[in-house]
Amino acid sequence: MKTFETIPEKLTLTHDLSDSELSVLLQSDKNDAALFKSADALRRKIYKDEVYIRGLIEFTNYCRNNCYYCGIRHDNKNAERYRLSKEEILSCCTEGYSLGFRTFVLQGGEDEYYTDKLICEIVYRIRSQFPDCAITLSIGEKSRESYKAFFDAGANRYLLRHETADEKHYKKLHPPGMSLENRKRCLYDLKEIGYQTGSGFMVGSPFQTTENIIRDLRFLQELKPDMIGIGPFITHQDTPFKSYKSGTLELTLRLISILRLMFPYALIPATTALGTINPKGRELGLKSGANVVMPNLSPPSVRKKYELYENKICTGEEAAQCRGCLENRVKSAGYRIVTDIGNVKRETDIC
Ligand code: SAM
Ligand code: FES
Repeated sequence: MKTFETIPEKLTLTHDLSDSELSVLLQSDKNDAALFKSADALRRKIYKDEVYIRGLIEFTNYCRNNCYYCGIRHDNKNAERYRLSKEEILSCCTEGYSLGFRTFVLQGGEDEYYTDKLICEIVYRIRSQFPDCAITLSIGEKSRESYKAFFDAGANRYLLRHETADEKHYKKLHPPGMSLENRKRCLYDLKEIGYQTGSGFMVGSPFQTTENIIRDLRFLQELKPDMIGIGPFITHQDTPFKSYKSGTLELTLRLISILRLMFPYALIPATTALGTINPKGRELGLKSGANVVMPNLSPPSVRKKYELYENKICTGEEAAQCRGCLENRVKSAGYRIVTDIGNVKRETDIC
């Protein structure tokens, strides 16, 4: 059996580690430089210097759920609620298209105002008007029938973080009535229907342990998502977790590198939350193995209201400014924004 000199070397060559090796990597900064270097080399081998852009449209902050960490949770009476109309959503897409976006991500709270019929109408209109674009939905837990209807209307990607793969931890982050079992059921339904599926979790969420993170990685190995979104948990004063500390830049970057090395082909965003905890967070995320950024296409008048966590960045800019700002940031980190649809690459795509 081949022996490896270091744990990062083993991860780079085999794309897997034992639980105890992962535990060593996660708990010390000793291997970070080697991890970042290997992760960047691997992303460059597969995705070159390309960074894909996704235009994020946060179309409603109404939510029936009460996740303890989230600023737009139902019971936050301080949240000023808003909804975008079908026409407003379409005009965000029109503006986005002219700025070079070929993926639209429609994200929102679980808002029953948007019935399945209405979501299908919106998706169908976007699909008809922008046939060369990918339509991503991120609207939470729905029935298999609903997911299938959205897919048939023209949606082709779905983002749903599993949040934590540990049942006990899940219960500490969510009220009774929400379950890890249903979250997982949704993810497997989405995959079976044919969506390019994204999952992920928050880094440094309250009560999270190293063992929890290892379980998250094992769950992702089982699910095999096309996209993996992680970002630091960030405290919000109007939630039950107001006294808990935010996650750290260091652990988030370390995990981005580990994810790149475990899932070489995955689409991994440098998230807004990462840019919120550190002014250079997204650039550092790209250098650690991330290959996607998600500029905001929502109308500036509503952006501040989609406050999942405090001090969220990009809330004052126009879409074009946000796009330009990210273009410069990506460039300064040593990469290049590409405006094609940016599908996940498979092993067979690489010769
Ligand atoms: N309702 C959809 C859902 O549940 O997937 C999409 C919206 S939800 C607000 C999007 C993501 O925001 C969640 O999956 C969660 O990981 C993240 N999020 C919520 N509150 C957060 C916080 N305080 N800090 C960092 N991320 C947070
Ligand atoms: Fe949105 Fe910088 S990325 S303003």
